[in-house]
Amino acid sequence: MSKFLVEKCPPLRGTVRISGAKNSALPILAASLLGTEDIILEDVPRLKDVEVMCEVLSYLGAKVEFLDKGIIRINSKDINNYETPYELMSKMRASFLVMGPLLTRLGKTKTSLPGGCAIGTRPIDLHLKGFRALGAEIDVNHGNIGAYAEKLVGDRIYLDFPSVGATENIMMAAVMAEGETIIDNAAMEPEIVDLSNFLNKLGADIKGAGTSSIRIKGVKELGGATHSIIPDRIEAGTFMVAAAITKGDVTVENVISSHIKPIIAKLREAGCVIIENENGDKVRVIGNGRPKAVDIKTLPYPGFPTDMQAQFMALMSISKGTSVIIETVFENRFMHVDELKRMGADIKIDGRSAIIQGVESLMSAPVKATDLRAGAALVLAGLVSDGVTEIGDIHHIDRGYENIEEKFAKLGAKIKRV
Ligand code: EPZ
Repeated sequence: MSKFLVEKCPPLRGTVRISGAKNSALPILAASLLGTEDIILEDVPRLKDVEVMCEVLSYLGAKVEFLDKGIIRINSKDINNYETPYELMSKMRASFLVMGPLLTRLGKTKTSLPGGCAIGTRPIDLHLKGFRALGAEIDVNHGNIGAYAEKLVGDRIYLDFPSVGATENIMMAAVMAEGETIIDNAAMEPEIVDLSNFLNKLGADIKGAGTSSIRIKGVKELGGATHSIIPDRIEAGTFMVAAAITKGDVTVENVISSHIKPIIAKLREAGCVIIENENGDKVRVIGNGRPKAVDIKTLPYPGFPTDMQAQFMALMSISKGTSVIIETVFENRFMHVDELKRMGADIKIDGRSAIIQGVESLMSAPVKATDLRAGAALVLAGLVSDGVTEIGDIHHIDRGYENIEEKFAKLGAKIKRV
């Protein structure tokens, strides 16, 4: 298993170009199963998770070709397989996003129940509530889950929690359902809007994405399209925190600043100077001495993103004062706390709250990435820890960050993969 060796680095300086968003590419790749003509996706990040999703599409009978950098061509005209094998689902639970498209295209779908993961049980009850409302029969046995529907008919569906995945899966199951579907208390993340824009390019009729109520009018068939994936707001946030924690001066480009408002706000409260250019596709972050302690509460969009919680905790570990971070989205997303404590952080967990007493400086120690964002937080902590920090299980990091060591090297950091 490869590791990262992260050296303490001088203040990071320079510009980094942000890649396409993993959490937009994955649902849009799944949605490509709905098209019956060529689909060209641009700005697709080269990530492990993207490769696995492409493996799933090929397994189901879609033609998937990697053209040059970041461009994938997909043709799902002749998909013929409605079953996703266990080994693919177990590699990446986002494969579950093919259920909605398969239910729509083939009237049936079968896969293994997606496992939980380090950050929580990750239930799928809201996905199934939506499929049932549209007329699907669901059967769960021996760890497999099947959904079958002669015909899908639109309905009004209320989500008890604005689940990103459930909103996406139900949208994709409703695009060709008879009549109209309304999703109430829908997720409002930018990735939902990107998916809706992509589906409408294919010929769907979706309105309201980005608000808590999405209306989908069923259409007969979906064709093809060319679509560029939106920039990754979490990767952008990660590099912005890197500037803050190293007291550097970093510009992230190819961003959409309206997608990272909570991150900008909290970094400003921590004392950073942040300059957005007029069309909002470049944001400059200037660290300003030791960060001030700020409190964070993660919430569904447009609240502070849970995917930035671990990275911000690394920053608060060296802040002047005490900060409280409350994780309201996932039930077990504090796996990085023990690892940060090994590096000298002073953090106490009380239920869904973490109380962080800022320390002067952190020290290097052998640590392990427990999930994708926790891994990113350990890299950030390693940048300001005395000595060389060895981070294990970095396959988690490779799932969500394209060429992370090259991007950091360009800013003056020394991260070696061994
Ligand atoms: C998506 O996961 C993202 N993954 C996650 O990013 C992100 O953390 C999460 O949204 C929240 O923003 C992808 O887009 C591939 P949810 P998802 O359904 O869809 C509960 C990363 O690091 N819930 O909004 O699984 C669930 O238990 C990953 O890139 C139900 O109760 O998130 C959780 O507490 C990590 N029933 C909460 O909703 C359901 O049927 C949020 O889950 C579904 C979800």
